[in-house]
Amino acid sequence: MATNELALHHITVRFGGLVALDDVSLRVAPGKVVGVIGPNGAGKTTLFNVICGFVPPTEGSLTLDGRPWRPRPHQLNGLGIARTLQGVGQFGGMSVLENVMVGVRGRRARAETEAFEALDRCGVADYAAARPGALPYAIRKRVELARALASRPRILMLDEPAGGLDTDEIHWLGELIKNAGTTVLLVEHHMDLVMSICDEILVLDFGKPIALGTPGEISTNERVTEAYLGTPA
Ligand SMILES: Nc1ncnc2c1ncn2[C@@H]1O[C@H](COP(=O)(O)OP(=O)(O)O)[C@@H](O)[C@H]1O
Ligand SMILES: [Mg+2]
Repeated sequence: MATNELALHHITVRFGGLVALDDVSLRVAPGKVVGVIGPNGAGKTTLFNVICGFVPPTEGSLTLDGRPWRPRPHQLNGLGIARTLQGVGQFGGMSVLENVMVGVRGRRARAETEAFEALDRCGVADYAAARPGALPYAIRKRVELARALASRPRILMLDEPAGGLDTDEIHWLGELIKNAGTTVLLVEHHMDLVMSICDEILVLDFGKPIALGTPGEISTNERVTEAYLGTPA
């Protein structure tokens, strides 16, 4: 049986003279919630883009289940990789339900049921017939998460899912991620959320991996406090 382990081996990404990722290695074990944190410009989104095949690594390689992993963006859904975008990316011309159905593999009737279930799981089934553009931001974030969950991904990639949400919404989001029943890769600025739901955290600073460990290890790591908070511990 496939283990679903995703691994990054010495990944470096250069954009001209700028080193966005500098020798980053990471193993994302099945079922774990792995956080990626770091100041703005640290390379977090680039790391996601490498995993999704949007950005080719300049050096290094990726493996999934021990096999070389060179994804093309259009293959992601079929391979069981679902990603939410920073902000909300939904098609205005379709209903909420239709937006979520886009992520579901299989026949229409089944897709509709699964999409509806995903909306229900995210607490937004009442909005199935609405147009996403007319909905409050927090509701659209939930719809975006439902869209990702509806594909029953092996790996769920979340880029700043808590952005623009209030404390209650963030708490709700944390519970949903913990209970997603899948491997989660999470880029997030909201430290309380990261610390409470991640099994492991990678800290990037100017593209360099400066720490990798449990929330407990990361929160007491001096290099992290310095880089992330800009103050010595
Ligand atoms: N396509 C690109 N072309 C050139 N520079 C880029 C590109 N994408 C990201 N960068 C640069 O790479 C660095 C890391 O960016 P990013 O991965 O978006 O950081 P983060 O998500 O941690 O804020 C930044 O300096 C950014 O300006
Ligand atoms: Mg980013």
